[in-house]
Amino acid sequence: MVKHYSIAIDGPSASGKSTVAKLIAKKLGFLYIDTGAMYRAFTLAVIEANLDPKNEEESNSLIGKVDISFNDIYHITLNGKDVDARVRENDVANNVSYIASYKEIRLYLVDIQRKIASNKSVVMDGRDIGTYVLPNADLKIYQVATPEERAKRRYKENLEKGIETTYEACLENINKRDYIDSHRSFCPLHPAEDSIEINTTDMSIDEVVNAILNIAHSKGIKNVE
Ligand code: DC
Repeated sequence: MVKHYSIAIDGPSASGKSTVAKLIAKKLGFLYIDTGAMYRAFTLAVIEANLDPKNEEESNSLIGKVDISFNDIYHITLNGKDVDARVRENDVANNVSYIASYKEIRLYLVDIQRKIASNKSVVMDGRDIGTYVLPNADLKIYQVATPEERAKRRYKENLEKGIETTYEACLENINKRDYIDSHRSFCPLHPAEDSIEINTTDMSIDEVVNAILNIAHSKGIKNVE
């Protein structure tokens, strides 16, 4: 039987998880799953249906009625449409933590995440991958950076994508999301006991990727042919 590997990368907003996870997946030939994008896509569905993301019951009404998936370039799709850029916009970013705090929606999306990981080698990033989604992951990384450094990165990323914002707005959004993500009752953000913490504040992307690949190799995680 072919062994499937899983690497979980968790950490707070804008700690560089998705950039790093994508590069590691590419190097190892694994599938990359951005679980944050799935919560964002659900949030977009709620907004587009003119429902209130702050209202749990209204938001729950879309469970089972939206098709959230990834296309072959790893972009998030909502009902078949590529919404990868759309889900980074402010209306989604400002409401996604509410959606991610609703247990029924989490269970629905976690089910999809586990199905994807069940027959493929994956690098999955999020908040609860090592603690809840893939508790038996072969490697668990907890990636952190100071809120100021994360706001700087998010601001730069938004500018590059043409999303209008300010550094102050990014910092405020990051602090707010850190609070909601780590204080929700179901699956709050916290490091798995067996995770390895990497503080990326003063590290380049390549340094982080190489550090994680070295740990992966030392654990016997191999490239997929
Ligand atoms: O990684 P991101 O910024 O795209 O995540 C968007 C939001 O979704 C963020 O507020 C935390 C939440 N999230 C979560 O609760 N669990 C995950 N596995 C991934 C993201």
